[in-house]
Amino acid sequence: MELPFAESYKIKMVEAIYRSTRPERETWIREAKYNLFNLRSEQVYIDLLTDSGTGAMSDRQWAAIMTGDESYAGSSSYYNLQEIIRKLFGFDYCLPVHQGRAAENVLFSVLVQKGDVVPGNSHFDTTKGHIEFRGATAVDCTIDEAFDTETDHPFKGNIDLEKLRKVLNETPAGKIPFIILTVTCNTSGGQPVSMQNIREVKELANEYGIPLVLDSARFAENAWFIHQRETGYSGKTIREIVAEMFSYADGMTMSSKKDGIVNIGGFIATRHQQWFEKATTFSIMYEGFITYGGMAGRDMNALAVGLEEVTEAEYLESRTAQVEHLGKQLLDYGIPVQRPIGGHAIFVEAKRFLPLVPKEEFIAQTLAIELYLEAGVRGVEVGTLLADRNPETRENRYPATEFLRLAIPRRVYTNNHMDVVAAALKNVFDRRNQISSGYKIRKEAPIMRHFTVELERVLKD
Ligand code: F0G
Repeated sequence: MELPFAESYKIKMVEAIYRSTRPERETWIREAKYNLFNLRSEQVYIDLLTDSGTGAMSDRQWAAIMTGDESYAGSSSYYNLQEIIRKLFGFDYCLPVHQGRAAENVLFSVLVQKGDVVPGNSHFDTTKGHIEFRGATAVDCTIDEAFDTETDHPFKGNIDLEKLRKVLNETPAGKIPFIILTVTCNTSGGQPVSMQNIREVKELANEYGIPLVLDSARFAENAWFIHQRETGYSGKTIREIVAEMFSYADGMTMSSKKDGIVNIGGFIATRHQQWFEKATTFSIMYEGFITYGGMAGRDMNALAVGLEEVTEAEYLESRTAQVEHLGKQLLDYGIPVQRPIGGHAIFVEAKRFLPLVPKEEFIAQTLAIELYLEAGVRGVEVGTLLADRNPETRENRYPATEFLRLAIPRRVYTNNHMDVVAAALKNVFDRRNQISSGYKIRKEAPIMRHFTVELERVLKD
């Protein structure tokens, strides 16, 4: 008999979680003004708000913490990090920063000017924010299949080369500082970019003399999908695939809170000495001296080990198998989710899940609240609240897709927890025809409103 699959690690330390009652959750969510960001973590049973900074470190990482070097300049922990970055990505220059958006802030301060255009595949919010904040424009060139949740395409993170060529042709010379590819693409559902697509984007970029940057938050998960799905890569190691992916890039921004498997941190890395030298000025101003940036020495040490662990096939198999385990159950229940199942999260399609709730009443948020009430599971809305208002007209922007994202922390929950999430969502799905109204806004911030918005129930007459 073939032995079944099991995780490539065992558990040495545990943290208790509290399974609350429905009346408790009704009180708490009302007190939180129906905004799941306002809940205290003790009020959450299974927390799938994000996979960012929520992973469990290994014993080897904790051991590395103890030997961190907290020297202001020349820390050995920086050189440990530099060594693994060279080995994995082939970049000689690196700058630690406190998290992914700080990497964007520092690198874009060097590269992005007012009036520039930065094409990419569904830029993450902070990436877009750092482009727009500088008076530049982010243009989404993702393939159309990514926006059709029912189409099974193995690489929904891919760039449409024709869309990209059009942007390159129509933008005046010198106005595109770089193209950015997000691997995997968070916004489209943790969907990977194929090696062929990275290569072809690079070839096109070369034709126009434009550099390529990889937003690498989930680079290892992307490499795993290339290994699993792309012809010619099943016999290669994850590290060989990572090396090839980054051989096409000029530089990278990294949120180490994801595929660094640490709780805080990030970095920039590049093959260009000039980018590095210019970036050090901003890094010193915004983050810290070159050899620590925004990070403690001990955290750089843990990150160096995390980068090794995240590129082991056994780890990636465990990781993606767990996300798949949850996704497959939801698909079996007929629950509409982005297909195929992505690397870090399940994206539940709220419009098809709750067809009776009007779009003005925040469909995905309504679903997020229902799931919390059902079982204390916290997901996050990726819909109209997040899309915010049009800055000129102040009208709500209604995105093509309303998602409830269930992001799974690395090495934290067991598949039993996933089974609870699946059952809870099925219970909500079974009573979807009784859910016909949502929420309205009581108070909101002028920008990034989803973090602090206050809502109230819409009462039907
Ligand atoms: N790029 C991608 C693709 C991301 O998903 C994130 C963060 C960032 C950049 C910014 O990194 O948070 O370290 O500053 N994503 C988190 C999430 C917040 O929940 O998806 P950061």
